[in-house]
Amino acid sequence: MKRYHLVTFGCQMNKYDSQRMEGVLASNGMRQVEEAENADVIILNTCSVREKAENKVFSMIGRLSSLKNGNTKPLIGLGGCMATFWKENIFQRAPALDFAFGPDALERLPCIINERIATGKKQLDIGFGKKPAWDGPESFVRPSTVTAWVGIMKGCDNHCSYCVVPGTRGSEVSRSADSILSEVEELAKKGFKEVTLIGQNVNSYDWQSAGGRISFPSLLKKVDKVTGIERIRFMSSHPKDLTDELIETISGSKKICSSIHLPVQSGSDRILKMMNRKYSSAEYLEKVGRLKSAIEGITISTDLMVGFPSETEDDFKQTLELMEKVRFDALYLFIYSKRGGTPAEKYDGHLSRGIAQERFEIAYSLHKRLILEKNAKFVGRTVEVLCEGQYNGSPGSGDDSFGVNGQFGRSDGNHDVAFVADRDMTGRFVQVEIADSSAFKLRGIASNERVLDE
Ligand code: SAM
Ligand code: SF4
Ligand code: F3S
Repeated sequence: MKRYHLVTFGCQMNKYDSQRMEGVLASNGMRQVEEAENADVIILNTCSVREKAENKVFSMIGRLSSLKNGNTKPLIGLGGCMATFWKENIFQRAPALDFAFGPDALERLPCIINERIATGKKQLDIGFGKKPAWDGPESFVRPSTVTAWVGIMKGCDNHCSYCVVPGTRGSEVSRSADSILSEVEELAKKGFKEVTLIGQNVNSYDWQSAGGRISFPSLLKKVDKVTGIERIRFMSSHPKDLTDELIETISGSKKICSSIHLPVQSGSDRILKMMNRKYSSAEYLEKVGRLKSAIEGITISTDLMVGFPSETEDDFKQTLELMEKVRFDALYLFIYSKRGGTPAEKYDGHLSRGIAQERFEIAYSLHKRLILEKNAKFVGRTVEVLCEGQYNGSPGSGDDSFGVNGQFGRSDGNHDVAFVADRDMTGRFVQVEIADSSAFKLRGIASNERVLDE
């Protein structure tokens, strides 16, 4: 088993797990191949958050099974949240699978593959350990040389009534601050300039060290001291756990970016209560107000769900009103998807797909109008961008107007910025004069570069 092909679905955490998986496989002498047809083993790292995400995986397994053509090869394995969601039933639902493993088992992947070959039996490894799975020596295959995700905790204890994640990823466990800091220091030595600390709810990070308790703000302050790392981001933040101490920590640091992902889910208090989100829309708005007054120019992105069971026209209107008040800088908008085993599955008043789709379109056009207005204000201004590499247009967009000179990066406020420069600026902080804006991107021309202190 030398060649593997890996396909990743789902959130940042899953993508981060795929980077770790690639590291584990590379340490075992395996290499990634572009085409599934050329692989000895195909691995799908999957997501269960919405039914649509799962359906994509099932149809992909259907297509891949034809490659076996009566043979045992290629092996097909399923990792991530679908493994822990479906458990042993996954083999009935997708008989072509040879093995399935949960998010905590990825370091055992080479053994799981070997066991499948040695025993000829399908393998299932879906346990959760108390200890964070990545607390040992790590190898990663990271797609960037400039910016990296660093996992700081796993699992989730929030039990939002619609969500499978507490079941698929287990309860919350924080990773040791020492282990996090040594990963960040290692990244700095390799020349990375930006880290994003990730977890389902980073605000509830909590580590008991020999010297005392380390909360999320104290962890941020430690990461802030790592020489060479110039930008720090984090996600996701649960609004109920956003403290004044965290706001002060962001505003007091030059490195922590003025940008926060703060999922609101709904603007209706009745729906928020049914979702078990533990804050009201007024409390959310109050926290947004505190963020905006303490941190100049802070950008706020969010997750929003429409079509939650029993959502009325009035509940939906309250969501639109909240959107108008906050004017989010980025929006991840979802139609509620009924998930087996969650409390919301049993709620009355599941809406028709048609109504949910209509609300999705209304909310999406409102966001588009608001964000176009907001981004247009950048035209003529200069923003500092950390260049991440060459820009060839977003896939499928046909946007190649910058030709070979195009580069891309993000602003401190997490705007995607495409720009032209006269040389490769990867890993550098560039001043970009914004010439043009759209709902998703700013575009401009590099003027000069910020020279970093040694
Ligand atoms: N932990 C993060 C938080 O709550 O802040 C979010 C992680 S969750 C995997 C990403 C987003 O998926 C959620 O914020 C929610 O909007 C959406 N989501 C979760 N369950 C869903 C469901 N059953 N149907 C539709 N969207 C869902
Ligand atoms: Fe799911 Fe809620 Fe946890 Fe986010 S906070 S992962 S939405 S249970
Ligand atoms: Fe992420 Fe999907 Fe699991 S959103 S945590 S991969 S269910």
